[in-house]
Amino acid sequence: MMLDEIQKDVIEPYLEEEKPADGKVDLNAAFDIDRLKNMEFFGRLFNEVLRVDPVAGQALLPRVTTRTERFGNVTIRKGDNILIWNHGLHHNPNEWQRPLEFLPERWDPTSPLFLTPEGKKRSGFSYLPFATGPRVCFGKVFADYAVRIVGGLILTSLDMEFVEEKWYTQKPYFNISANYAENVQIRATFKNLTSCLAYLSN
Ligand code: HEM
Repeated sequence: MMLDEIQKDVIEPYLEEEKPADGKVDLNAAFDIDRLKNMEFFGRLFNEVLRVDPVAGQALLPRVTTRTERFGNVTIRKGDNILIWNHGLHHNPNEWQRPLEFLPERWDPTSPLFLTPEGKKRSGFSYLPFATGPRVCFGKVFADYAVRIVGGLILTSLDMEFVEEKWYTQKPYFNISANYAENVQIRATFKNLTSCLAYLSN
């Protein structure tokens, strides 16, 4: 999906669903735990962002194997060092329908996109933005709530646009490291100065 379509189809419905009635940022609502838990659409949006761009995992997750395993013709011996490329897992066409498209509805259990292309339940290992097992991300739950709070405040307070037109139709070059090879600059302007001043003075 093109980025301008994301703005229209994804960000704007979120604003309709989540924005405070009077157009100002309500800080009590912003931190209300029940409201945060119920941000179903935002949860799907966050999951899909981390599927497409797993910020920590495209840098590869290093692990040491604890037992010998055979995958097709390849044997990985006990004690071998391996790298788990979760960006690859997140785009596996056997697990994900239309893997290259940004589709938050694939996280909605009532959507046909929720299943694999064969109509099965996805493997628990098809999505590892926070890794898994005993060394799973320590800040997973914290990150989820922080993004809901900060993301909600940003989306309701700021209008954002790409400085360079090209980012509306193309993705930055991916280089298998923690960072993209190109800078993507965003220009942000306050939607409503009164609400932002109220927020800053609280
Ligand atoms: C969207 C946000 C985040 C993502 C995608 C993320 C992802 C990850 C991943 C993939 C790992 C495993 C790395 C590996 O095993 O090589 C990890 C580990 C870790 N993360 Fe996060 N993380 C996020 C936010 C946070 C936050 C907010 C905190 C702290 C408040 C945090 C604390 C940690 C710690 C301490 C570990 C190491 C856990 C261990 O090795 O036992 N993370 N994170």
